[in-house]
Amino acid sequence: MAEETISLQANLTGRSVLTLLDLEAEEISALLDDAAYLKTRQRNGELYQPLLGKSLGMIFENASTRTRLSFEAGMTQLGGHALFLSSRDMQIGRGEPIQDTANVMSRYVDAVMIRTNSHAEVEEFSQHSNAPVINALTDNYHPCQALADLLTIKEAKGTLKGLKLCYVGDGNNVSHSLLVAAAKMGMEGVVATPPGYEPDREVVKRAEQVAQENGGSVKVTNDPDDAVVNADVIYTDVWASMGYEAEQSAKEKVFQPYQVNEKLVRQAKDDYIFLHCLPAHRGEEVHTDIIDGPHSEIYEEAENRLHVQKALLVAVIQ
Ligand code: CP
Ligand code: NVA
Repeated sequence: MAEETISLQANLTGRSVLTLLDLEAEEISALLDDAAYLKTRQRNGELYQPLLGKSLGMIFENASTRTRLSFEAGMTQLGGHALFLSSRDMQIGRGEPIQDTANVMSRYVDAVMIRTNSHAEVEEFSQHSNAPVINALTDNYHPCQALADLLTIKEAKGTLKGLKLCYVGDGNNVSHSLLVAAAKMGMEGVVATPPGYEPDREVVKRAEQVAQENGGSVKVTNDPDDAVVNADVIYTDVWASMGYEAEQSAKEKVFQPYQVNEKLVRQAKDDYIFLHCLPAHRGEEVHTDIIDGPHSEIYEEAENRLHVQKALLVAVIQ
């Protein structure tokens, strides 16, 4: 086979990505450019296998459709191999220390991807791992999702800087990563939640600092109607995240005014796009008119998980 001569822009060799705060704005831009390039190649059916012989260990403590499929298919497309590891079937599920698991795993694989509730556990794992660690969702952050979201917005709008990104719903992991993503890229990030469900104060503070450095802004409000005025992007997520399903019924009433529906989006820009990380609950956080309507980019967004994660895998492993 002819020697592969292309080289991607992002270089994060050996680095872990636990939140987008771990990346410079320029590094995020480079990853998005690389992802767009890999997407075109993939769609043209062109093989690109820089990770031949490399392995990704994927630890899942929670359910997943998109994350598992996109990482696994992505590693295959790059010439490497992904190992699906349910924490229930690993010794870690029987109490083996994170320190030992991380030390041992990183002697077998070239990168580790983890989905678990506790962000502190992922931080501890990465401290003891000689291989780069990628956060594939914790209670605090979902950075791979936010990278895919940025790519989707950039494709739809041609740019990121100056755009208004409005998240309406629960102040959760996805809202945190979006706030940081918007701040990094010089966007206007707005999060509207019911009182008592705002994003974590520390995350908001960090995002505000990042926004100042990058010419963006961050706002948290309890007023969804005001939040969506002139929005370029409207985003929502489930009202009860994984591990918090018991909160669902208590939340249903208080979150009702935060449903993304025709009435709420009226004040957004005419060409706004709607995003949702999925899985979605139609009729709860979003009306079917919106998620299945002409402004919705949810399936492109889901596909983009594959392309940004491939760019990320090449950047941290090579
Ligand atoms: N958006 C997302 O992370 O989907 P999964 O939970 O299916 O991986
Ligand atoms: N906030 C959701 C995102 C799922 C991809 C959760 O944590 O369950």
